[in-house]
Parts: sequence; C-alpha cells; structure tokens
Amino acid sequence: MLDIVVLAAGKGTRMRSDLPKVLHPVGGRSLVQHVIDSARALGSDRILLVVGHGADQVEAQVAADDIRCVAQTEQLGTGHAVLQALPHFRDDATVLVLYGDVPLTRPETLQQLVEAVSDDTMGLLTVDLPKPDGYGRIVRDSDGQVEAIVEHKDATDEQRRITEINTGILAAKAGHLQKWLPSLSNDNAQGEYYLTDIIAMARRDGLSIHVAQPAAPQEVEGINNRQQQAALERYYQRCQADALMVEGVTLLDPARFDCRGRLTAGRDVVIDVNCLFEGEVMLEDGVTLEPNCYLKDCVIGAGTVIKANSVIEGAQVASRCAIGPFARLRPGTQLADGARVGNFVEIKKACIGEGSKVNHLSYIGDSKVGKQVNVGAGTITCNYDGVNKFVTEIGDNVFVGSNTALVAPVKLGQNVTVGAGSVITRDIADDELAVGRGRQRNIQGWQRPVKKAP
Ligand code: UD1
Ligand code: CA
Repeated sequence: MLDIVVLAAGKGTRMRSDLPKVLHPVGGRSLVQHVIDSARALGSDRILLVVGHGADQVEAQVAADDIRCVAQTEQLGTGHAVLQALPHFRDDATVLVLYGDVPLTRPETLQQLVEAVSDDTMGLLTVDLPKPDGYGRIVRDSDGQVEAIVEHKDATDEQRRITEINTGILAAKAGHLQKWLPSLSNDNAQGEYYLTDIIAMARRDGLSIHVAQPAAPQEVEGINNRQQQAALERYYQRCQADALMVEGVTLLDPARFDCRGRLTAGRDVVIDVNCLFEGEVMLEDGVTLEPNCYLKDCVIGAGTVIKANSVIEGAQVASRCAIGPFARLRPGTQLADGARVGNFVEIKKACIGEGSKVNHLSYIGDSKVGKQVNVGAGTITCNYDGVNKFVTEIGDNVFVGSNTALVAPVKLGQNVTVGAGSVITRDIADDELAVGRGRQRNIQGWQRPVKKAP
C-alpha cells in the first residue's frame, strides 16, 4: 500500500508570476501534473497534495478521486509540510515524499526507493553534484552508512565539501513518520521544521538508510525560475525525441522537435525540423512531415506527405494524401485516401473524397466533397450568413472552375462543371454545366482616356 505526499505549498517567488509555480508547464503539462502522473504510475491510490500559496488554483487544476489536498497555511518547513498530511496516511502504508516542482523523476527510479522500505529500512534519493551549494549534504559514517542530512546553512566548512546532496525525495513506513514528524524541532539556522532531520532519527531508532540515485541528474531537478524551466523543457523534449528515434522515427534534428502531448508513430516516419505536436497525434507508417508543421489531435494515414508550414488540428487524414505547403486543416476535416490540399487552403468540418484536389487558395467549410473532384483555385464555400451555417454538397467527378463562390445551402450533382468566376446560388443537377457570371462584351476601337494638358 503506497501513500504519496506531494509538497506544493511554496510560493515560487523567482518565477515572477501570478500563476502558482507548480502550475507552470513542462512539455505542455503542469509541473504538479507530471508528479501526479508518476505517482499514479507507481500504483498509488492515495495522493496527498500539500497546498498553500495559490491553493485554490492548484486544487481546481488537479481535482481527481485519488487526490486529497491538505492545506499548509504557513510554510514552516518541509517537515511541517509532511506533518499536515500525517492524519491521512494509512497505518501500514509505505509513504513516499515527492515535490510539486520536481517534475521529471522517472517512476523506475522511485520504485527502487519504495521497494527498499521496510520496518527497519527507509529509502533516500541522493545525487552527486559538482556544485552542491545550497543543498542538504549527505553525511556518512566511517562504514559509509548515511548518518544524517545537514542543510547547507547549518553545515560546517568540512560538511560543505560533501558533493552528495539530498534530493528531498524519500520513503518510509507511515508508522515511523507518525513517530518522528511530531518530534521535529525548528532549532536551526532557518528556524524551519526540516524533514531531513528524520534521517538522524531513523538511525537512532536502528534503521538503515537505503540510498538510490537517479539515472540522470535532471530527474531530481526542481524548477525555481524561468531558466530552469526552459532547461528542463529541452531535456524533456530530448528524452521524447530519443524514445521516438529508438522506435524507428527519423528526426532530422532532435534538438528542434517538440511534443506537448502524446505522439505515436508507425514505421519509417520522417519528421523534419521545427514540428510541434499537441494533444494526441498519430502518424501512421511512412508519413513525412516537412519543416515547421503544427499538428494537434489528429490522425495522419500511411504514406501521407505534409509539406512545410502546414497547420492541422482535429483532422482525420487517410492514406497517401498530400497537404500543404501552407495548408490549414481545422477541426472536423476528413480527407479520404489520395486527397490533395494545397497552398493557402483552409478546410473546416468538411469531408474531401478519394483522389479529390483542392490545390490553391480556397476555403471549404461545412461541406461534403465527393471522389475525384477538382476544386479550382480561389473557390469559396459561402457557408455563413452572419447567423447560421449551411452545408455545401459536391458530387463525384465535379470540376469547379477557379474563383467560384458556392453560396450554401447548395448541392452540385455528379459530373457537374462550373465555369470559372461563377457565383452559384442554385442546385446543379448531374452532368450539367453551370455558369453564373456577367457575360463578356468586347468593344472595338476603344479609346483609353488621355491626360489633358494643364
Ligand atoms: C530541501 C531540503 C534539502 C534538499 C533540497 C533539494 C529540507 C529541510 N531541505 O531544501 O536538503 O537538498 O530541498 O531541493 O527539506 N515546501 C512546502 N512547505 C514548506 C516548505 C517547503 O510545501 O513549509 C515545499 C516547497 O514548495 C518546495 C519543497 O517543499 O517545493 C522544498 O522546499 P524548499 O524550501 O525549496 O527546500 P530547500 O530549502 O531547497
Ligand atoms: Ca529548493
């Protein structure tokens, strides 16, 4: 049984923000959400979030059945923070302490720590830092056993030379914490109740301290300012990029790849530089993305090519389509196999049938377009009268000439041809040609105006 306490009461002054620190994002998810997701990955069904500054906002953001928020109105130290959660610990639980501003600890790292906990052992996560200034130092005895943690401000010069530091993350039996936490004192350089003092108490009670270390130092880095946030963002993106490359995705430059959601990719997917993914994105086998594309909540079918600078949101794209450059697919777009959408084309809530082409400068909204249709350059579906939206239907094998306005509601049957420059306001039956434009007049001997002498 695992109870997890997440400390998230601090102010985060150095973010210089109106948003509570733990709600700032890394990889499109708030810091505290990362921690909660890791806690869940460990199989915990009781997550206690200690909140203080911005408590209402934090509580509203994380609300869920397995999360209880515990108020810490005054921030009197990390020991005092965990003490607030004490009444919620289940007696025989193992308790793991995490921090709302340390987002990237891998569940595998934490699992080692939790597994080591028993009635005579507690777990502590430490890391070696070349510049340990400011951190609590790990003091070991002559046998190399951890004896105590000494905060930087309370440490002697000799202790300050220790480079093994406390990450803050630890695990112990609830019963032990129930004994130790109420007896913490704040008689130290900062006048705080230090959680770290429980290490010496554990040793006094005959426990041994099992030490684990993370695979990478970034796993235990906290965020206090925008620079640290940016640094962890890059690290997080690099980890995601590496995972995709391991799965066989080609990233032309993994340093210029960003995913703020979840990206799944099939075999032989190629992603050029500066592509950004949000929400849930699925790229099937052989999809190619040219540079600078933005994809959010969409599925892209096998063999489709998305050319540079395209924006795709809430769309379903089938196989072997060609999109862009500079195309915009808005929510509700469905492209059937082999459809082509070219430059400066916007599509919204519309199905484009198999093999159909909308290649240049068009707006297609609230529409059903059949198979093998050619929509000429500059075609606009006039779907909106200022109040209501109307549907345009276009049958198979239709040819729409350039610069046509299709005033919805309107229906074009199969094999229809529309002359260029038409304004179509009435339905067109199968196989008809419709031309809706002013007739051309040619005037012979026309004299252009000339400038009069002053
Ligand atoms: C703490 C550790 C130190 C460790 C360092 C790692 C103690 C006494 N020291 O120091 O050994 O090297 O973290 O970063 O534990 N918090 C609360 N309520 C409080 C106090 C803190 O919720 O009353 C939260 C803060 O929001 C923060 C975290 O606990 O997320 C750590 O607090 P902080 O004051 O930053 O601890 P440090 O002094 O850095
Ligand atoms: Ca800190």
